[in-house]
Amino acid sequence: MKGIILAGGTGSRLYPLTKIINKHLLPVGRVPMIIHSVEKLRKAGIKDILLVIGTHSAGMYTQLLGSGEEWGVQLSYKIQEEAGGIAQALSSAKAFVKPDERCVVLLGDNLFEDDLSGYAADYELQERGARVLLKQVPDPRRYGVPVLDGDRIVSIVEKPEQPPSSYCVTGIYMYDYSVFDIIDGIEPSARGELEITDVNNVYASRGELGYAMLSGWWTDAGTFDSLQEAGNRLMGGSN
Ligand code: DAU
Repeated sequence: MKGIILAGGTGSRLYPLTKIINKHLLPVGRVPMIIHSVEKLRKAGIKDILLVIGTHSAGMYTQLLGSGEEWGVQLSYKIQEEAGGIAQALSSAKAFVKPDERCVVLLGDNLFEDDLSGYAADYELQERGARVLLKQVPDPRRYGVPVLDGDRIVSIVEKPEQPPSSYCVTGIYMYDYSVFDIIDGIEPSARGELEITDVNNVYASRGELGYAMLSGWWTDAGTFDSLQEAGNRLMGGSN
């Protein structure tokens, strides 16, 4: 299993902090945000990791993480020239994943408590398709929200006015190689981005989108409030 961390994007909701430094290098607890994603993958035994970054602060990532040796992983880097969406960032990982391999994809601004090992092991047992991790949240309108039917996701609605459930599709995704063909087949959304929700909906329409519920706390860190919440949660430990 390969690991992919997506850390492009503009971080516009955290302006002016993100005027001088990329969002995923901001401190969360005792370390820069990106370290938490690297650690989560390493602890799940996923040590071959591709980091997709934007052009902003690109040199600072190699200064912090280098080859990954210090952090117990092997890191490769890919530049996403413009913030064309999560699915576009993921498409740049195509050459990194072999056709018979699967990958765990983390959004670099997602912070969470759970160890990923069990979820990744369950995905290995899933015959085909993709798997996402969900979390019940008080404000689902900020996220991708799933329509559930038993152990299956029927569809996902991105940032719905009227959420069909109280769950959020977190930025922890597991894919097989067919994800790259699916991305090739989707069109940019109204906001001009290739949406990961459109990708997940292709799997859902095939009946191939599994899910599990995160048991520990989860937050993104894309707004001032959530960044502060993540920092408070992580201040007690290194991860
Ligand atoms: O946090 C979970 C949510 O993340 C999901 O529930 C949504 O379905 C999903 O669309 C996403 O929503 P956001 O609006 O929070 O996504 P955002 O644009 O803030 O991007 C999140 C991360 O994705 C960001 O930290 C880095 C990466 N990214 C994003 C874009 C737009 C890239 O690497 N490249 C990009 O072009």
